Amino acid sequence: MDRVLSGMRPTGNLHLGNLYGALNNWIKLQNEDYETFYFVADLHALTTDFTHSTHLREETMNMAIDWFSFGLNPEKSTIFIQSKIKEHAELFTILSMITPISWLERNPSYKDGVSQIGEKTAGNLGFLGYPVLMTADIVMYKARYVPVGADQLPHLELAREIVRRFNYLTKKDVLLEPQALLSTAPKILGIDGRKMSKSYGNAIYLSDSEEETREKIKVMFTDPQRLRRNDPGRPSICGVFYLHQIFSGKQEVREIEEGCRNASIGCVDCKNILIKNINEKLRPYREKREIWKKRKEDILSIFEEGTKKAHRESEKTMEEVREAVFG
Ligand code: TRP
Ligand code: SF4
Repeated sequence: MDRVLSGMRPTGNLHLGNLYGALNNWIKLQNEDYETFYFVADLHALTTDFTHSTHLREETMNMAIDWFSFGLNPEKSTIFIQSKIKEHAELFTILSMITPISWLERNPSYKDGVSQIGEKTAGNLGFLGYPVLMTADIVMYKARYVPVGADQLPHLELAREIVRRFNYLTKKDVLLEPQALLSTAPKILGIDGRKMSKSYGNAIYLSDSEEETREKIKVMFTDPQRLRRNDPGRPSICGVFYLHQIFSGKQEVREIEEGCRNASIGCVDCKNILIKNINEKLRPYREKREIWKKRKEDILSIFEEGTKKAHRESEKTMEEVREAVFG
């Protein structure tokens, strides 16, 4: 069976963007004919959050509550914590010996990072080497497919190049070249019209109450040209409409699209329909959240079990890697 692997940095409570950009895709693959490995990328979190590193355990727990409430299943997937498996650090070191710095500096995420978070953090060796650690994560488990968002594609491309170089230099085909699996969900905008992101403070969380969800959607940005009730709107640029495409039925979506374009439906009504649909869809999961919130001990044992299983695989790969490198 082909293996699928993906990781998420421990960011605490997940929002709708995380659910539709990643988690749902993980769960779908888990329920198909793959062996799935999913992990908390806590070492990756250190590349930008070193000053908040003591929160990472709690953030991991909060993220895991969402994972399990929404259907990630430890009986089907191997679920583990990156930093508990020391081989990730070892393989990162080895791969870093064959990765030209120029490849890393060319990476668009690195360039964006430098301009966004500034030289101070982005100037770290760890930040520059982010995709090398990611490569180690993937090839450690010989994963063929890696479900990720479009922002991660340059990292995947680098991973493939590093693998080819490793196999060429060692003349052994130890490492498997991974392929990205892109999520097909429409993009999810936050309440301010920018991409939904925890750091922008514009997110709707799976853990939000129905009331909080309502208040957020009420103030959500719509088509800025639709100032009056009878101005026609443009659903194609409206974050509320994107959410309808996910949470509302096909027929309803068609009516809203029409109604917005010919101004027969107002933004307030449009939003009220969305609020109702989101809250209805999330209600059963939010109820499960309340149960998982009380099962922290169980979550810790899931991680422990998964980490043991993953460790057996990482040992195997590292034996082959050490053999290929040191003979
Ligand atoms: N960089 C990924 C993200 O921010 C997280 C990640 C770390 C990852 N290692 C990985 C994803 C390996 C896929 C495979 O979303
Ligand atoms: Fe957006 Fe709905 Fe208003 Fe159209 S009617 S602009 S889709 S909120």
